[in-house]
Amino acid sequence: MEPLITCENLVKIYSSSISRYHKGVEVVALQGLDLTVAQGEMIGIVGESGSGKSTLLNILGGLDRPSAGKVLVAGANLLEMSAEELNLYRLKKVGFVWQQTTRNLVPYLSALENVQIPMRIHHIPEEQCRQRATQLLEITGLADRLQHLPGQLSGGEQQRVAIAVALANQPDLILADEPTGELDTINSARIYEILRNINRDLGATLIIVSHDPGISRYVDRVVLIRDGKTSTETVRVTLAIDHHNKNQQDPEADKYEELLMLDSVGRVQIPKLMLDALNIGSRVRAEINQEGITLKPVDGHVRSAINRDTTFKDESIYMEEEPVEETRQTLIQKFKNLWRMEGK
Ligand SMILES: Nc1ncnc2c1ncn2[C@@H]1O[C@H](COP(=O)(O)OP(=O)(O)OP(=O)(O)O)[C@@H](O)[C@H]1O
Ligand SMILES: [Mg+2]
Repeated sequence: MEPLITCENLVKIYSSSISRYHKGVEVVALQGLDLTVAQGEMIGIVGESGSGKSTLLNILGGLDRPSAGKVLVAGANLLEMSAEELNLYRLKKVGFVWQQTTRNLVPYLSALENVQIPMRIHHIPEEQCRQRATQLLEITGLADRLQHLPGQLSGGEQQRVAIAVALANQPDLILADEPTGELDTINSARIYEILRNINRDLGATLIIVSHDPGISRYVDRVVLIRDGKTSTETVRVTLAIDHHNKNQQDPEADKYEELLMLDSVGRVQIPKLMLDALNIGSRVRAEINQEGITLKPVDGHVRSAINRDTTFKDESIYMEEEPVEETRQTLIQKFKNLWRMEGK
């Protein structure tokens, strides 16, 4: 089956001009990103601040155009769409949920009225709008809050209304940019559960950007973006086959595997942690053997102190000092544990 989303070599450069005569700095937010998402999949996107997650979501949602590359959603090439086609795409094909609860809803309209807005823009008859909005608020557990204004709802409830708004026009794709960023753990879990039910029951494809490592238990896979490129992917190993029966699963029994992603021309981004652990610099020796391909450090091409000044933020394994030989083994072991994410 054709994937719902195909991004190939996606590049986004933001240039901020200071004035007509002075060009400002250029920021390469996406640098050749590849991503494929199947119809009906639910994926998580993680990555450090500034790695390009929101940029990707904005492009997929038709809110921004890439500088180069290819982006197909449901067979439509977003780069070739006219402004009018892109407007229609935003209205019919995608639903958004933002991190800021206030950005999602109109403050002076009730929950029910908020959910009806996208349908009204789409000229759906009044009664049908009302019925569908009511149903959607029931699905998100807000049947008893229909007439509440956003200010009369808790943060978690507001995000649940936002999910109902995102679903209003039965979009193919739901994009959520840190939907739980302002919520506590309990409310976050509730939001993820609702999103998962929507994915399972309504067959919607979901992409959720999150800073929450716990997201892996709710989604089919987690893609890590590093410096504007998809870098690694964490997949649930034990339950990957049981795709449609997510509620029956015991999350504690889950096992995960993290894989390096190859781009369309076969490049992989080797995590800095791995390079540090083996002191790999600007060259590697690649050897093919029974198990696959082994990359080995090359004498005279060790990792320089500058390269080691990594932005990697996992405190449990990040070391500021040059690792000495004894600690190198510990580092490799820690890395192996983290990499396999066994019994997470
Ligand atoms: N409109 C813009 N103009 C100029 N630069 C931008 C613009 N939007 C984003 N950027 C830059 O592009 C890079 C990627 O930004 P993006 O918002 O996609 O990051 P992010 O991964 O969503 O980060 P966060 O986790 O903090 O939300 C950053 O360096 C950011 O400063
Ligand atoms: Mg962001």
